[in-house]
Amino acid sequence: MANAKLAITWLGHGTFLLRSPGGVRILVDPWLAGNPSCPPRFAKPDQLGPIDLILATHGHSDHVGDLVQTARATNATVIAIFEICAWLEQKGLQHLSPMNKGGTQRFRGVGVTMVGASHSSAFIEGSSIVYLGEPAGYVLHFEDGLTAYFAGDTGLFGDMRLIAELYQPTLAFLPIGDHFTMGPREAAKACELLKVRQVVPMHFGTFPVLTGTPEQFAQLVRPLGVEVLVLKPGETTD
Ligand code: NI
Ligand code: MN
Repeated sequence: MANAKLAITWLGHGTFLLRSPGGVRILVDPWLAGNPSCPPRFAKPDQLGPIDLILATHGHSDHVGDLVQTARATNATVIAIFEICAWLEQKGLQHLSPMNKGGTQRFRGVGVTMVGASHSSAFIEGSSIVYLGEPAGYVLHFEDGLTAYFAGDTGLFGDMRLIAELYQPTLAFLPIGDHFTMGPREAAKACELLKVRQVVPMHFGTFPVLTGTPEQFAQLVRPLGVEVLVLKPGETTD
């Protein structure tokens, strides 16, 4: 797979399967069986093929709901904030590479920088709410020089300017659904701060309250010259 481009498969909501230009298979925020937007052919971990790395942005069930069983089934390494990794360790997972905001680690040829997000992070277990550190986003530095920003769930925050200044991502994955995250208006402002050229919209349409649409978003970012890559769940770029 050398010299290939990044391949992006949307599994619905905030869940993506990425194949890096160097062939590293990365699953972001695994939510499969319970995800109303996940196509049935991807709903079980053993239907995803080999996974090298799982990235988790925060502890909400619509992002890590299938993380434990997917990590077990694939033997993938999990990168997440310290507290999520500690929680996963208590569940018996072994291939964990905890980090925190501001830091970068390399996985094979891919650089993974953890950045902030304006959101919350907890998992409901029985009658308890388990807080899992703080929510995060990632800047991914791929083997071919492409830099992508994966926002996770977030509201708009001014430090997106710093992400642009320091890392110069050209591609961003941004939530646009509103209610629990940015809507189209805030996500359009994010594009201005991030100075990105391409955006994959996510976290919309899964539930009725996620009302923001790619059409509304595309209209708002057209004057900025941003290309909006709208995938259907199950669809892969290129
Ligand atoms: Ni969330
Ligand atoms: Mn969410």
